[in-house]
Amino acid sequence: MTTDHTSSKPSTTESGAPRESDAHSLSVGSNGPLLLHDVALVEKLARFDRERIPERSPHAKGSGAFGELEITADVSRYTKAKLFQPGTKTPMLARFSTVAGELGSPDTWRDVRGFALKFYTQDGNFDIVGNNTPVFFLRDPMKFPDFIHSQKRTPDSGLRDANMQWDFWTLSPESAHQVSYLMGDRGLPRTWRHMNGYSSHTYMWVNEAGEKFWVKYHFLTEQGMEFLTNEEADELAGKDGDFHRRDLFEAIKNGDYPSWRVEVQVMPYEDAKTYRFNPFDLTKTWSKKDYPRIPVGRFTLNQNAVNHFAQIEQAAFSPSNTVPGTGVSPDKMLLGRIFSYPDAQRHRLGTNFNQLPVNRPVTPTNSYDKEGAMQYHHSGDAPVYAPNSYGRAYQDEQGPVDNGWEADGQLVRSAYSLHAEDDDFGQAHTLVRDVYSEEERQRLVQTVAGGLLGGVVEPVLSRVFQYWKNIDQEVGESIEKEYYRRSGK
Ligand code: HEM
Repeated sequence: MTTDHTSSKPSTTESGAPRESDAHSLSVGSNGPLLLHDVALVEKLARFDRERIPERSPHAKGSGAFGELEITADVSRYTKAKLFQPGTKTPMLARFSTVAGELGSPDTWRDVRGFALKFYTQDGNFDIVGNNTPVFFLRDPMKFPDFIHSQKRTPDSGLRDANMQWDFWTLSPESAHQVSYLMGDRGLPRTWRHMNGYSSHTYMWVNEAGEKFWVKYHFLTEQGMEFLTNEEADELAGKDGDFHRRDLFEAIKNGDYPSWRVEVQVMPYEDAKTYRFNPFDLTKTWSKKDYPRIPVGRFTLNQNAVNHFAQIEQAAFSPSNTVPGTGVSPDKMLLGRIFSYPDAQRHRLGTNFNQLPVNRPVTPTNSYDKEGAMQYHHSGDAPVYAPNSYGRAYQDEQGPVDNGWEADGQLVRSAYSLHAEDDDFGQAHTLVRDVYSEEERQRLVQTVAGGLLGGVVEPVLSRVFQYWKNIDQEVGESIEKEYYRRSGK
């Protein structure tokens, strides 16, 4: 406990009247029946019955902390966003998570880790909701619910199922790059403090002169990247399912504040058309040789939540939260997410989730959206419509928006790309062959062959070997050989 509660007044009902007892219900005689008009008991049980809210559909298990972003470089030639101007300090919240596990699942199951940031800026909230990997499994939001279903539980047994996971991945070859990250060391970060974060998506920046740039955000851990072995992770999953949550909380409590360098890759607006990879395809990175990382600043997490439920569980991050000087991009996954997050939060937290203290912007809002369950902040007796003649401000901009792009063409359902080096396996091959060391490659082979194929049956099994051979012939053959050596077949 961090707060002294000894001076608080005796307990009350929720309507503020003194409670008579927190220990004894009202009964007819000391062993007699209970009474429905014991308001304090009825209220206590009814409220208890409603304590749980729906967990996040993916990324249910996680935790986070508050901190501050400080801009240490000058990137004003790329963006006019106030939070990115030199010397600016912005309060923030970060939440880290696993993707597939439920609320009570162990932190150390192999998974991609969520890396969600909310900056409380002078122009409203700016969120980057990324992962600890720079790419993703898919390039079209239509597939996202199927992907998550395949990572969660089977309909009959309610068990997680490797066959289902590999079935989906091998039938969706665009997953190869992200699966190569997931089966590598990054699938088991030692702690949240020891992992990088990425926007993964391409976003837009706009400067004062109205020039547009495409950007990818990188958050580089100043603690260094560290990982768990499969054995350590398995042991921790049994001994301390909350290992990562505990680590972050304890570190901050002890004054050991974790920090990340903020850097961006910047692509001139026009380059997007001719770059060798589709820069809006979330399964691809931009080569750092083509677009080096540019320093922006750093953020530090220095304050734990005082109430996990109110400040972490009820936090609502969304890539739709942009501010002037920033914007989204034609990445289809990102455009799908823009709808999905606030929609999920209206369901998970309620219509007025943006009015909760943790989600509320630090600047005043003036929105004509109104009412709904649990409205707390309101516009008093001001006009409830725009335009109006009675002084309540409204906007009336017209014409092209400054963070938009040109789009034209037939309506199609397609993933056709015009970029020279777009394919499903090329960048996955580079990662496994050129970026991973020999030891890292060997660990990947052992990880895939030595456990994660348990329960995988034909025809999925053969497809798994072929999938890895498409990524890297030698790695695919090693996985196949090691699998059969271990299974004695
Ligand atoms: C079309 C694709 C996607 C859809 C429809 C989708 C949908 C969702 C939904 C509904 C939630 C729960 C939100 C809530 O209840 O507050 C969520 C959480 C999350 N998603 Fe996605 N997601 C997608 C792709 C991605 C990608 C590509 C990334 C990372 C680059 C990502 C990172 C996260 C993170 C970090 C969280 C947890 C946020 C938090 O800590 O509260 N998602 N996603």
